[in-house]
Amino acid sequence: MEIDVVFRWPDLLPEEAEGRVAVVIDVLRATSMIAALLAAGAREVWPVKEVDEARRLASELGGALLAGERGGLPPAGFDMGNSPREVDAKVQGRPVVLTTTNGTSAIQRAARAEALVTAAFVNAGAVVASLLATAPERVLIVCAGTEGAFSLDDALCAGGIVAGLASGAGEAPGCSGVRLTDSAVAARLLYESQQDKLAAAMRSCRHGRRLESLGMGGDIDWAARESVIDLVPVRAPGQGQSRLVAAQAGARLSA
Ligand code: MLT
Repeated sequence: MEIDVVFRWPDLLPEEAEGRVAVVIDVLRATSMIAALLAAGAREVWPVKEVDEARRLASELGGALLAGERGGLPPAGFDMGNSPREVDAKVQGRPVVLTTTNGTSAIQRAARAEALVTAAFVNAGAVVASLLATAPERVLIVCAGTEGAFSLDDALCAGGIVAGLASGAGEAPGCSGVRLTDSAVAARLLYESQQDKLAAAMRSCRHGRRLESLGMGGDIDWAARESVIDLVPVRAPGQGQSRLVAAQAGARLSA
């Protein structure tokens, strides 16, 4: 299994995702939010880039809720923001349309991947288990970054996934070990240096500081917990706009 990491989604050309399994990460907070929504029973999550597009899609989908942020706060008329701590029982059985500043753009940029999942610290173990069960030839981890810049939270989580794959690959059937690109090695080293103080590291980064200044520092602690949600948000088969549905931890991924 070859594992590569792209630290900012604008660095990825759409065609570079072809033939690979993409793992998209935006720990603060889009992919933590996606895990929270599906864990709370949302039927599916539709990640879209623009606010107007989100409003249009939600009105076309029966019973959909609108979630997301601009500048960290919910756009006018949205049912919820992008805080995973806000997710409650109202999402059960309903589609949720999500638009965020960086995360949903990263998901769209990786759209040409053979299969696509999203990951955050909260469901990292489940994502690793599914990747090991699938044993794809090539894995591409795409970090959202923050407004075009490297973002420490995403790089740390990418490193955690690289570390999990590297330690599990020896025993996974059909997987003859891992080959890491330099960016994957760098992410792993970073994770290993901060593994026991993830929340503190995330508090020190630009995005973490901004959330604190908005009074949402609690989201950092929420998102820094490792593998507390046992599901994998996977792109559902079909043409057109991507939607993410919950798969069980360890389920094999298909195109
Ligand atoms: C993003 O996509 O930029 C983030 O999820 C922003 C946030 O809600 O903190």
